[in-house]
Amino acid sequence: RYASQTLLERIKKEGRVEGNVIKVDRFLNHMVDPQLIDLLATDVATHFMEKSIEKVLTAETSGIMLAQAVAGMLGVPFVYAKKKRPLTMGDHYAAASYSFTKEESTTLYVAKEVLRPRERILFIDDFFAKGSTLKAVEEIVEQAEAMLVGTAVIINKSERNDIYSILTLKELQG
Ligand code: G4P
Ligand code: NA
Ligand code: NA
Repeated sequence: RYASQTLLERIKKEGRVEGNVIKVDRFLNHMVDPQLIDLLATDVATHFMEKSIEKVLTAETSGIMLAQAVAGMLGVPFVYAKKKRPLTMGDHYAAASYSFTKEESTTLYVAKEVLRPRERILFIDDFFAKGSTLKAVEEIVEQAEAMLVGTAVIINKSERNDIYSILTLKELQG
């Protein structure tokens, strides 16, 4: 696939793989190439085109760029779960997740008014590692009685093959 090939070449040229940590902060994570994001988003949006997605959901911070691009292409809004609850946030859903990569615990917050019962949700993130973020998102979606229709990430570092990804760690190392 064109998006996979382009991302692979970009990581080889401007990124680095250190053990199982992938450095992408020259084009995805810190400095961001919006044209690359659009290319990746086209792939994801095409894959989920027929799934009647009603809202894209991501978590702060690095999922936001892809989520916005995909949501724009699908013609739906996107919501990013917050990691700090703003004082202005009223009724909300919350779920904790432990990051093995960062060795810290975070709580995701989503206001009730932006996630409605029966809504068809696509979850988006930059990396899928241990699945702790997805687990927290699943809890929030369940609290809202919405429906998680799919998960799409840029790079899947796990063995799970029910996660739609542009690239897997295996493909990157292979
Ligand atoms: P999990 O949710 O799948 O369990 O993943 P994990 O906790 O291990 O990931 C924690 C954070 O580390 C996430 O960012 C994730 O995007 C990032 N991460 C995981 N693997 C890599 C990697 O190989 N390279 C890079 N550059 N980042 C990685 P986050 O906590 O959501 O923070 P943010 O950066 O989105 O604000
Ligand atoms: Na990240
Ligand atoms: Na993230």
